[in-house]
Amino acid sequence: MNLLKEKIVNEGKVLNDHVLKVDSFLNHQIDPFLMQEIGKEFAERFREAGVTKILTLESSGIAPSVMAGLYLGVPVVFARKRKSLTLSENLLTAGVYSFTKQEENTIAVSGSRFTNKDCVLIIDDFLANGQAAKGLVHLLEQAGSHLAGIGIVIEKSFQDGGGELRRKGIRVESLTRIDSLSGGAVLFAEEAEV
Ligand code: G4P
Ligand code: NA
Ligand code: NA
Repeated sequence: MNLLKEKIVNEGKVLNDHVLKVDSFLNHQIDPFLMQEIGKEFAERFREAGVTKILTLESSGIAPSVMAGLYLGVPVVFARKRKSLTLSENLLTAGVYSFTKQEENTIAVSGSRFTNKDCVLIIDDFLANGQAAKGLVHLLEQAGSHLAGIGIVIEKSFQDGGGELRRKGIRVESLTRIDSLSGGAVLFAEEAEV
């Protein structure tokens, strides 16, 4: 997706060999026009998949998910990372291990949001080691819902998450794939393949 690549090139900051900072349009400040285009792109890719709902994880997954939900005409559910006053009954939970923080966190959704009739598209901002995605998949397994696939805004293909999910037979659609952040430069997957 060219607009997204341009944003990454012009505004992204390579913090180190593993982390790309995109606080000006995705993780802190949000670019609504870019989110709209991202939503259209996800909707196009999953148009024929029979999606009935989108599942994401707070907070940075919400903006691209809402736009995808708008163009697919389906509701968006975000899993919570913290206990909620109102979300307490019939909870489905999954553990998500963070390599960066070296801690296990619990994510949760209400079991009443998903049934075995649902066909769910998971969306997230980043795919690194895939821990968050795996946790979201686990929530849907408990609900008995069908998984349409996973949509990712920025996949870091030098980390193992995408490979692992695809080897399980899950459809993973990433709008951009980054092969390397070495030496302070962003190398996109297509360039590396040339
Ligand atoms: P890890 O496997 O590398 O340890 O990362 P983990 O999945 O624990 O993700 C920790 C947070 O860091 C997640 O956001 C994830 O989206 C984000 N993240 C992972 N790699 C990158 C990166 O290269 N750049 C940026 N900007 N973020 C990255 P989160 O803590 O859940 O926060 P949020 O959704 O509230 O923004
Ligand atoms: Na995230
Ligand atoms: Na994030």
